[in-house]
Amino acid sequence: MDPTQFPYYPINDFGPVMKGLAIGGLGIFHVFLAQFAIGGGLLLCLFQWLAMTGREPAARLFIDGYFKFLVLLSFVTGALTGVGMWFTAIQVSPETIGLMVGEFHWIWAIEWTFFAVEVIAGYAFYRYGHDLRDAARLQLLAIYSLAAWFSLFWINGILAWQLTPGDWAVDGGVWSGFFNPSFWPSLLFRTAASMAIAGLVACVVINAMGSLDYAMRRRLIHRAAWLMAPMVAMPVFGAWFLAVIPDDSRSWATGGSIAMTMFLTAAVGASVLIGGYALVGLLRQRLYINGATATLLVVLAFVASAGGEFVREGVRKPYTVRGALYSNSITPELVATFREVGSVTHDPYPLRDADAYPTDQLRLGRLVYRRQCSVCHSVSGANGLTHLTGSWTTDQMRFNISHLQHTKPFMPPFAGTPAELEALVQWIAWENAARPADWTDSDTSALDARLRELLADAGTRPGDFERHRAEQP
Ligand code: HEC
Repeated sequence: MDPTQFPYYPINDFGPVMKGLAIGGLGIFHVFLAQFAIGGGLLLCLFQWLAMTGREPAARLFIDGYFKFLVLLSFVTGALTGVGMWFTAIQVSPETIGLMVGEFHWIWAIEWTFFAVEVIAGYAFYRYGHDLRDAARLQLLAIYSLAAWFSLFWINGILAWQLTPGDWAVDGGVWSGFFNPSFWPSLLFRTAASMAIAGLVACVVINAMGSLDYAMRRRLIHRAAWLMAPMVAMPVFGAWFLAVIPDDSRSWATGGSIAMTMFLTAAVGASVLIGGYALVGLLRQRLYINGATATLLVVLAFVASAGGEFVREGVRKPYTVRGALYSNSITPELVATFREVGSVTHDPYPLRDADAYPTDQLRLGRLVYRRQCSVCHSVSGANGLTHLTGSWTTDQMRFNISHLQHTKPFMPPFAGTPAELEALVQWIAWENAARPADWTDSDTSALDARLRELLADAGTRPGDFERHRAEQP
């Protein structure tokens, strides 16, 4: 690509917040709410069927009690946080969103259509469900649930593609990208999770319904527990997912990165507790679950979802779309070009605080940081560069930053000229020195040969995690 044609979007400064965490933080609420809305639809269908076939007379009370409000609430808040996700994601990485929309335009349109059907069916049930005949109620609920599940089906393909683009990387086909290697395991896993979440929330609601006596509650809880039965298969879906994701991604989550490993452990631990309780306690021994325990399990389910989402987003590093786009919105092909022409040479956006830097070299360094590092690092806040490099000498910084992809293979290669590398190093050194007003630029031309040598040695290819692992003490 002609580097002057490379699209520069404005890059937002989130201060001490890590941009990935801004998306992830909202994402976990969105996923949890949306999955509850999907499982909730299935649960409403089940209870409607139990009520109309006379198997469970109290089921109707439950549906018309709070549960339908909860489902409505979750799809309203799920939809709002979903819009919020678009908004945040566009602030953080317009290039990624652009690629997702460009490649899957019609899939998004289909997804949106299903979502619209879900909203209309859900609202119709909420508003008119009371006056409808049983068969019509069940039909409406079935439409709601199917539409909700299908909106997961469509979204899931696109999200899974980001981590495992599969044959899309070879043929660029929409369906090759959509039905990618992690499509089925993540769809099945999410379906089981949705059902479990709805079953657990139902247990909380049933306990809170004062109009039911103990025997009724007990029966309803055992019916709701059916939705947790698919949890037995979750370890299989989870293992299948781990088996198809790239080796390096798997290695981050299984010991390679402390944070990712902790999140995965939390997610697995919480799921095992819930699954154990649901399968052994509720389904096998037919125990009663009280409101407090049910609430605790819902909280654990939230922890499990949150951990799982962080791992899924985190192990994609250094890419937002594996092999096609690095997290800092530079494509792998452009790295070599930017080494020649510079990553910010054509960047049209000036620094907002240009006067805060005593020299031009520092201003250049700050621009390079903004372009290449700020998506994953803050200056002194979360994953702050001053904390990470505080104990390094300037020459160590030159080496480690020129070798970024080898320093930690979940970082993309450095994509700039020797002068940009030196400017970045100097700017970090200046930040480390607490931003003194007096600062002398380094002599880039004297260092040029050494910097070129470092960059050539690092190469422009992504890091090799096998090599990295072998070199670890
Ligand atoms: C894809 C996200 C990402 C990008 C882009 C990125 N980094 Fe990192 N970087 C990380 C993560 C995650 C760590 C690990 C932090 C830790 O170990 O706690 C890290 C670690 C580091 C470290 C410490 C390495 C060590 O061995 O202790 C330095 C220095 C660093 N990054 C500098 C940079 C610079 C400079 C840039 C831009 C040229 C950059 N990073 C771009 C994600 C990224």
